[in-house]
Amino acid sequence: MKTKNLPRYQGILSPVVYRDHGIDLLDQTLLPQQEVVLRLTRVEQVAEAIQTMRVRGAPAIGVTAAYGMVLGVENEGPSASLQQMERIAEELRGTRPTAVNLSWAIDRMLQVFRTHEAQSHDEIYEAMCAEARRLHAEDIEANRRMGGFGAELLPEGARILTICNTGALATGGFGTAYGVLRTAYETGNLDFVYACETRPRLQGARLTAWELLQDGIPFKLLSDGAAAYLLSRGEVHAILAGADRIAANGDAANKIGTYGLAVLAKHHGIPLYVVAPTSTIDPATPSGASIPIEERDPHEVLAPREVPFAPRGAKAWNPAFDVTPAPLLSGIVTETGVHHPPFDFRSLGRP
Ligand code: MRU
Repeated sequence: MKTKNLPRYQGILSPVVYRDHGIDLLDQTLLPQQEVVLRLTRVEQVAEAIQTMRVRGAPAIGVTAAYGMVLGVENEGPSASLQQMERIAEELRGTRPTAVNLSWAIDRMLQVFRTHEAQSHDEIYEAMCAEARRLHAEDIEANRRMGGFGAELLPEGARILTICNTGALATGGFGTAYGVLRTAYETGNLDFVYACETRPRLQGARLTAWELLQDGIPFKLLSDGAAAYLLSRGEVHAILAGADRIAANGDAANKIGTYGLAVLAKHHGIPLYVVAPTSTIDPATPSGASIPIEERDPHEVLAPREVPFAPRGAKAWNPAFDVTPAPLLSGIVTETGVHHPPFDFRSLGRP
């Protein structure tokens, strides 16, 4: 289905919306060439959409999994048991291992099920639905707050380098690092964005460029390898990145290539800020060494978008994320404010 009717939640673009006992999900694998909204009504479809990155970005997959848990109750019917819901939770949890927002959202939904287990199916369903919508709304609110905190860090006329896609598409709506760009642009403080194309899935070239065009923010794409030369020319004031999991000591896992940018930033004396909601912080993970790093199918490197780049028989390594050590970060922006090094998130509460 080709459509311009993109999903919206609370009036803003959202990659996923729950309505009439199903999920409307913008298929990000087809962007920017096609704007296709899928209709998901089964947990298996939700798991497939997350695994294949029809929806991606740590907060967005958390929100999607929360709605997936709602579908789980719906699919199981009046006999839905805690045991069945825990099985569904594991199915969704196993789709992508690095982004902690996924587990965080699933655990939150399981807790609601436990609390209402003794009630009628309709009551459980309503409670789960309300919780997923609340979680979704909270994510948007967190993004707006981070936008404000982050924009204050930037100089007037800022020229910013970013990686991957951290916009509305990667979240419940508005964006994290991209939300800072959005806010800074609205307040007249942002001059220009450089967006890394972000091999191999090209989230920068396909998705960030799509959002920047819609928002009318001036930008240029660059190949990932061009970032060092760009920074050496003094063309950039700061680097903004998202995160998929931040350990208790501030080590931050994000899209592959972020660590390289952080090393470059240090060398060139340019600040790198990570922008992520507290749902991305995992106080139970002491340091980056214990963050599980997803390795995806080598085919994504060998034949991006099904176009064979490498000769038949070539092999590839395809880690989806890397870990930037905390000492390379100038700050971590969350919805509670800007955290400066040294970081210590051990006491951050979890529901
Ligand atoms: O593999 P992806 O596209 O899910 O990776 C996304 C990122 O690395 C983002 O930077 C991160 O999830 C933060 S998005 C607000």
